[in-house]
Amino acid sequence: MDFSPALNNVLQTVNRWRQDDCYPLFPVITETGDTTARIRLASGSERPVTVFASADYLSLSRLEQVRQEVIAAVERFGTGAYATQAVGGFTTLHQELEKTVASYFGKPAALLFPTGMQANIGALATLARAGDTVLTDHLNHGSITMGVRLTGAHMVTFRHNNPRHLNELLNRAAGPGRRIVVVDGLFSADGDLATLDEIADVARNHGAVLVVDEAHSAGPLGATGRGAAEQLGVLDRVDVITGTFSKAFASTGGFVCASEQVVDALRHTAVAYLLSLGLPPAAVGASLAAFKVLEKEGDERRERLARNARYLREQLREEGVDIAGSAAHVVVVLVGSVDRTARVTRRLRDEGLLVGPLFPPAVPIGGARLRLGVTAAHTEEELRRAVRLIPRALAEEPA
Ligand SMILES: Cc1ncc(COP(=O)(O)O)c(C=O)c1O
Repeated sequence: MDFSPALNNVLQTVNRWRQDDCYPLFPVITETGDTTARIRLASGSERPVTVFASADYLSLSRLEQVRQEVIAAVERFGTGAYATQAVGGFTTLHQELEKTVASYFGKPAALLFPTGMQANIGALATLARAGDTVLTDHLNHGSITMGVRLTGAHMVTFRHNNPRHLNELLNRAAGPGRRIVVVDGLFSADGDLATLDEIADVARNHGAVLVVDEAHSAGPLGATGRGAAEQLGVLDRVDVITGTFSKAFASTGGFVCASEQVVDALRHTAVAYLLSLGLPPAAVGASLAAFKVLEKEGDERRERLARNARYLREQLREEGVDIAGSAAHVVVVLVGSVDRTARVTRRLRDEGLLVGPLFPPAVPIGGARLRLGVTAAHTEEELRRAVRLIPRALAEEPA
């Protein structure tokens, strides 16, 4: 079959990796240990592998309490999602999770999507329409861009974390249409936080709607785990919060929190919600359990995560590793070319360290990198090992 030149280029790279025995993707996990930070892989040596490629940041997904609630949900409602939520896939568990999420973020209402990606697509497709302008940070997640493209609204990209540029673009976008500003709370390919305090001021000065995707920040960040907006003191100024249960909340699925009016509009018009079956009860049970655990143990888990992340960032920097603007539990290691990034990833995996490689178009050309997801479960010894192995792998796999 004939593919586009861009696609052929990707396939050529993949084939080169296979030939050079450095294919870095789809490691097959055969079992997880006491936490998801420790696993075994189907290939390679017998030794356990330490995971720095996971978003189970608060280390909830192997907990007994979470597993028990999943079992209870399955025993009560079965395994499937049965129907779209609108016509027969909406249980009391779904209803409870909606209320839990809305009250967690202090918003009037919330609704659940099958994935975080669909939550972004659905939210933007409902909020924006032709004639509106959506202003999106240059490094926002791809699901945001995809959502905006579906709306027919004018999409304008502002320089990463640059409120002054946002302000200029908002001045230029003055007109009858609505202005919507969208940012990630924690940028997943760069590891830095949105300058939300300044962005919220700019948005408010222009009467723009502010949407924040807290996918990587809800749970770990903020004094009580409400995310980057809480950490920067602007939670009450964010109009719409989107996020996912697939990272810190031990499950899968997405959510949107907003006013009753916006949530009602989403519920009855968002194609990404209405045409896709809902979350299976097991997934809802896991998320509900995660919120309960965090109510009791959130502070302690967040402290451990912040301590681990700070240690990794400081020590890698001390070793001369370029971690760009990493500021939280997502720590990026800039590598450069796609081939070098593949080789470093494979070398680390063979040495018992699983890291996530990021390649263009998710990052700029020449900016391929490793993404390390720190978790509350990592031990000092595991962190020290990462600090030892990563600079060595970079040195032994020159550009
Ligand atoms: C910033 C951001 N938003 C949204 C998503 C999508 O979440 P989900 O995995 O639930 O589709 C991701 C996914 O990884 C993400 O990194």
